[in-house]
Amino acid sequence: MSEIAAVDPASFRRLMGRWPTGVSVVTSRDGERDFGLTVNAFLSVSVAPPTILISLGHEADSTEVVRRSGRFAVNVLSQDQRALSERFARTGPPEEKFRGVGLHRGLSGLAILDGTVATLEAGVTKAVTVGDHTLFVGVVDRVDVSGELAPLVFVRGQYAEPAGPDLLRLPKPKP
Ligand SMILES: Cc1cc2nc3c(=O)[nH]c(=O)nc-3n(C[C@H](O)[C@H](O)[C@H](O)COP(=O)(O)O)c2cc1C
Repeated sequence: MSEIAAVDPASFRRLMGRWPTGVSVVTSRDGERDFGLTVNAFLSVSVAPPTILISLGHEADSTEVVRRSGRFAVNVLSQDQRALSERFARTGPPEEKFRGVGLHRGLSGLAILDGTVATLEAGVTKAVTVGDHTLFVGVVDRVDVSGELAPLVFVRGQYAEPAGPDLLRLPKPKP
């Protein structure tokens, strides 16, 4: 096992990339304008009340929208929604990200993407700035679960491939 003495940002990113996660698109709304970004920093915090946390970078346009509106939805992507993950990870006008994307409306008009594994809508109860990110804690007030779709998995900076009903084929480590 090799050690890194001083953790530079690139090594830290690579290291954290070894922690497999699901992939979601977080949506929020500024008046009538939808915003959305790909997020894997998402976790469950409490069961009663049902509470979740997302971590959003300060460079993302969506971060201020979540802060101002106090509401967001976490759309958990399915294995065949890799293109949506890539689309919502690009910077650019939000209208372009949402163009042609199938969606319906949740509470207070939030964009709920079609064909996902599940969607959780939440109202922000706490926002804590840590370094270059803000942690948004939210209490879940609506969920939308669609069948038994397999989730998209991200590890080592790549998407894992499905390999049979219960197995994932992990990407090969980058050289
Ligand atoms: C798999 C994946 C996971 C990501 N997770 C996060 C995350 O948890 N938090 C975050 O702020 N950005 C994350 N990003 C980067 C944002 O999606 C990206 O910066 C996006 O362009 C921001 O969009 P916006 O500026 O329109 O809000 C992730 C990107 C990818 C590809």
